[in-house]
Amino acid sequence: MSSKAADHLAENYAEVLGSLCWSIERAEELIKNFDATVEQSIELRGAGHPFDQKVNALKALDSFVDMFPTGDEQGKFYAIDLGGTNLRAVCVQVEGNGVSTTTTSEMNIRDKCVSADTPKGLLDKNIPANVMFDTIAKQTKELMLQVKDDPSAKRKVSFTFSFPMAQESICNGRLGLWTKEFETGRNTNDPVEGQDVAELLNAAFRRAKMGCVVGAVANDTVGTLMSAGYEHNSKSATCRVGVILGTGYNIASYDPVAAKNGFSGSIINHECGNYDGVLQFSSMMDIELDYNSTSKGTQLSEKMISGHYLAEICRLAILKVFQYRCTEDCWTPWSFTTPEAAKVYADNTKSFSVTRKAMKSAFNWDVSSEEELRMIYKLICAVFDRSATIAALQTIVFVNRTRHLQKALGGVTVGIDGSLYLKNPKYRKTFRKTLDKVLGSRSELVNIVEANDGSGKGAAMIAACQNTQG
Ligand code: BGC
Repeated sequence: MSSKAADHLAENYAEVLGSLCWSIERAEELIKNFDATVEQSIELRGAGHPFDQKVNALKALDSFVDMFPTGDEQGKFYAIDLGGTNLRAVCVQVEGNGVSTTTTSEMNIRDKCVSADTPKGLLDKNIPANVMFDTIAKQTKELMLQVKDDPSAKRKVSFTFSFPMAQESICNGRLGLWTKEFETGRNTNDPVEGQDVAELLNAAFRRAKMGCVVGAVANDTVGTLMSAGYEHNSKSATCRVGVILGTGYNIASYDPVAAKNGFSGSIINHECGNYDGVLQFSSMMDIELDYNSTSKGTQLSEKMISGHYLAEICRLAILKVFQYRCTEDCWTPWSFTTPEAAKVYADNTKSFSVTRKAMKSAFNWDVSSEEELRMIYKLICAVFDRSATIAALQTIVFVNRTRHLQKALGGVTVGIDGSLYLKNPKYRKTFRKTLDKVLGSRSELVNIVEANDGSGKGAAMIAACQNTQG
């Protein structure tokens, strides 16, 4: 390589890396603006203003949940979890003492119903709502048969539906716009967007000759808050914040101004993946990714943070730096997956051998220069660390808002679910470090718990609380 070309590479690298890095000043600015936006979004909903993306991108959705589990709840509950790559039907045996056992029946919805007209499987815009909901009913029926229950018996099933939905009660939820590149029904006269997903599921249960009806609908963040609460509330500070860092990104939290603003639940689903105040800190990669997405101009925080998008940002960053050095595969959109990128993020070899292997397998690119491998590694680390940092900053705002970050009140437990957080120790470290840096000694009052399968069990926990708390 000529020295001129090498200089160009170094310049590109410095510029792209710089656009991904965060300073404490940026962090403070984000916290201030985000807190004001959260407050305003709750007030707008309270005053009866419908959601308007241009006025305030936070949806502040009433969860209709105003209960905190004690850990003593008991019973057997069915729940369905739709929101990421997998559709899951779960049967949760809630045993009290914070203990529960789960039987799960799972399937990958991206692989189901794939054809030339429906390349995205069940998420495709050409798949009508009835096909999606019949699949969910069938999966639930199979689980009931597996655990030797009668599917025609009358019972309530809880539904974790991990998309922005407006609720009028605990047992309904009207989907706004799909997120995470879901598009089911969009191109058909049998849509999901704009419809009550509980009604769609009840109709599918009837078609499948099942006796169940939807008894509770919850966002996965609300479910995570509830299930972490069930497991930890009796021993630790009450769980008041539920975070998902997986395919998607979002936070639900207990907010003391909810009642004053006319919310029925004290737990609000903020849909903070849609927060657009991050735009002022975005890089060229973020803008390009958003431009080519199916939901342009929305979910801007989610597009910088969640697992669905991280590898694509990494690919774009690599491309911007290495340009014509990249192989054709590296120029192909979505050719890099987040689990592969996560391997690079965790690369602790001196010679970057994991990074080299990942470039070869993802892009058929044999990078032999150690210096170039180091650049790729650093770019990927910057993308993941930026995600953990912004997510932690937004979490800090919600933790602060609970007003429990005070010794006399015992602090706050935060439940986190999602593979991005659960599967990446380095990511968790950056998340915690951000809390420590911003909160100083008050960080000790934030107890983070991993809510493994919180979204699956969560809606069942709401049913369990309804059972005992009435
Ligand atoms: C959805 C949220 C959900 C989050 C995590 C986002 O795309 O809009 O409702 O909580 O993903 O699954």
